[in-house]
Amino acid sequence: MDTRPFLIFTLLFSTINIHSSHSELCHPQDKKVLLQIKQAFNNPYVLTSWDPQSDCCKWYFLKCDGTTHRINSLTISGGLSGEIPPQIGDLPYLQTLVLIKHENLRGPIPPTLTKLKNLTYLTISWTNVSGPVPQFLSQLKTLLSLDLSFNSLAGPVPHSLSQLPNLNSLHLERNKLTGPIPDSFGEFRGDDFYLYLSHNQLSGKIPASLGKKDFAAVDLSRNELEGDASFLFGTRKTTRGVDLSRNYLEFDLWKVEFPRSLRWLDLNHNKITGSIPVGLTELKLQKLNVSYNRLCGKIPVGGELQRFGYSAYFENWCLCGAPLVKSC
Ligand SMILES: *[C@@H]1O[C@H](CO)[C@@H](O)[C@H](O)[C@H]1NC(C)=O
Ligand SMILES: *[C@@H]1O[C@H](CO)[C@@H](O)[C@H](O)[C@H]1NC(C)=O
Ligand SMILES: *[C@@H]1O[C@H](CO)[C@@H](O)[C@H](O)[C@H]1NC(C)=O
Repeated sequence: MDTRPFLIFTLLFSTINIHSSHSELCHPQDKKVLLQIKQAFNNPYVLTSWDPQSDCCKWYFLKCDGTTHRINSLTISGGLSGEIPPQIGDLPYLQTLVLIKHENLRGPIPPTLTKLKNLTYLTISWTNVSGPVPQFLSQLKTLLSLDLSFNSLAGPVPHSLSQLPNLNSLHLERNKLTGPIPDSFGEFRGDDFYLYLSHNQLSGKIPASLGKKDFAAVDLSRNELEGDASFLFGTRKTTRGVDLSRNYLEFDLWKVEFPRSLRWLDLNHNKITGSIPVGLTELKLQKLNVSYNRLCGKIPVGGELQRFGYSAYFENWCLCGAPLVKSC
């Protein structure tokens, strides 16, 4: 029997194999996992470039590390439906995971994410992902930024998130979160911290512990928070923005000393009393809104305060002076 055709065939095949293993940079384990993820999402059109015949470092929405050739970044915007598959936790070199604008993405955030020991950026936003903000996210010790905004997450805000040692940005706005802001949120260790919890149903008092933290910006607007918030300010802070609008907050504005760094301050629709402190004229404010409160007295003249127009001040008990038409 002439075995030459078979030999030639084998030779040819192994050459192809050698060739492809040389040109393919992507790690076979990562490739296997990515194909499982594609399958779990039911082979969506958006993942067409994830072709098993090609080098997965060249697939769309991914980045491979230059030396290890492991997948370190996965960013998919639009086009996914179903649940986030557990296999997402099997990309151990992932540093960035972004799933944004998938209105048919549902179900909970999978616990396998805790296997991503190098994850620094986690964004799951503008989806219909539901269930709680998981406690287990506090195991992702490398996280710098956690963004779970614009989803259907419900239940309490987990106090354990403050254990994330490097976190400096937390976005949980526009969900259905209930209960209080955890006391522990004054203990975030990251510098220049951005805290966004707006458009939820958070209730109770803002914990006084938050006053210990020098936030870069705080947005607690559109919740059901009550009581004092004056401790969020103070001349020693470097805070640039505070939005507390549309809550039931009640404190004396006259006594508040503002950080010089403050650029935007929105307090509209609360139960804030007192009058507007003269110190506000010294700030380079780009936005100010104290409308719909219980303020009284003369609007101090100077700085930016007359620039904002009457709607920044209207619907108070007895505020007067420019830009309101009511003179004092
Ligand atoms: C995580 O990152 C460190 C430092 O960049 C690296 O040495 C390590 O191999 C990475 N581990 C994983 C599982 O990605
Ligand atoms: C959630 O799904 C509904 C319809 O099922 C859709 O109207 C809505 O935009 C989705 N939410 C997001 C944030 O995509
Ligand atoms: C202040 O807030 C009120 C209530 O939301 C709004 O009607 C008004 O236009 C705002 N004005 C400015 C200057 O932001």
